[in-house]
Amino acid sequence: MKRDETGARPLLFTPISFRGVTARNRIVASPMCQYHSTEGGPGDWQMAHIGRLAIGGSGIVFGEETAVEAVGRKTYACAGIWDDRHIPLYRRLTDFIREQGAVPAIQLGHSGRKASCHTAVHDWAPLTEADAAAGLAPWQGMAPSAVAGEPRHFPPKAMDRDDIRRVLAAWAEAARRSVDAGYDICEIHGAHGYLIHEFLSPLSNRRTDAYGGDRQGRMRFALEVAEAVRAAWPDDKPLFFRISCVDGQGGAWDLEDSVVLAAALKDRGIDLIDCSSGGITGPTDMPLVPRVPGYQVGFAERIRREAGVPTMAVGLITDAHQAEAILREGRADLAALARELLWHADWPAHAALELGVEDPHGVMPHEYAYRLRQRERAKEMPINQGGEETARAMRAHLGDGGARREG
Ligand SMILES: Cc1cc2nc3c(=O)[nH]c(=O)nc-3n(C[C@H](O)[C@H](O)[C@H](O)COP(=O)(O)O)c2cc1C
Repeated sequence: MKRDETGARPLLFTPISFRGVTARNRIVASPMCQYHSTEGGPGDWQMAHIGRLAIGGSGIVFGEETAVEAVGRKTYACAGIWDDRHIPLYRRLTDFIREQGAVPAIQLGHSGRKASCHTAVHDWAPLTEADAAAGLAPWQGMAPSAVAGEPRHFPPKAMDRDDIRRVLAAWAEAARRSVDAGYDICEIHGAHGYLIHEFLSPLSNRRTDAYGGDRQGRMRFALEVAEAVRAAWPDDKPLFFRISCVDGQGGAWDLEDSVVLAAALKDRGIDLIDCSSGGITGPTDMPLVPRVPGYQVGFAERIRREAGVPTMAVGLITDAHQAEAILREGRADLAALARELLWHADWPAHAALELGVEDPHGVMPHEYAYRLRQRERAKEMPINQGGEETARAMRAHLGDGGARREG
């Protein structure tokens, strides 16, 4: 590994360990819903999508938010792991990710009151009785209180104690299946206005029992999910937790609340806080936080410093030097990318080149790497006897961007 002009090795490409799991670098493919599952199970689309993320060189590869029970999906096309028959389908993905040298990671979730919708391309419009004819019968979501997130949504069922007990058991069962499916990292989705976040925010939690009221009461469900999953998830495997560090419209749940929550989660065996924001009312991209590069890095930095827990930064991280600076300045421990990897799945290999990592092609699997190295050597080839024409043609074709993407 080459060192930069200060003699330091790029942190982005320095392995990192959480419990018994080591990632080859600190680049994370952030969870991304695909709305392409059948009865919750992944198929060829996920294999190709996840496959290209793993080939591209990320150290940790997340799939998509995966529902712990069928009614905890947002749409009929959402991923889930509520049944043992899902296990071999996910095993196919984890085997491939691991084969490429990356760590397979699953994000478990429950949609709460955001259930029963059409997919993202239809702007998550709620299902209606008219959709039943097409096999998309609406179902009632559940939440801490019977408060709809948006006027267009049908009010959810307010969860009683039995519902809470059942859902906690579903989280634990989903974690157990995730182990059997071969995942090495599990993340609890506690952000973006889904069930756990609905318990945290006073905008959605109007309960007067032990699961509502003050911040401690509203945190109770999140902490019980953390405990249930930690108990089912092996001790030598890390458990992450994604939170919305501030609410979508601001004020109801702020960064100070998130620092307190993060510290309590750490006490319950959570190894890293994944720092996102928004989503409790309206879409997750409510512009409370201006969408500037690295717009959520400040959250990761403060939680890391004040709660003393590792963090993951996410949100418009698109440049190798930007990602390296976030880690080097101690603002986060991992840098997660979502949309940039859709656009540019082999971003990690290009980031290695940018940061002066020796043998950047080695970030990719050997099936690609040896040919790419060969191409680099060809560029250096002296114009020699007999090879002159070939070398000239090769240089003309590659220009000075031979190591970059062509076309
Ligand atoms: C297609 C797509 C699907 C997403 N699905 C999820 C998801 O399943 N779970 C989640 O926590 N965040 C999800 N997100 C949010 C991303 O993980 C990420 O936090 C967000 O896009 C900001 O990062 P970016 O600027 O690198 O895209 C999704 C984002 C995209 C673009």
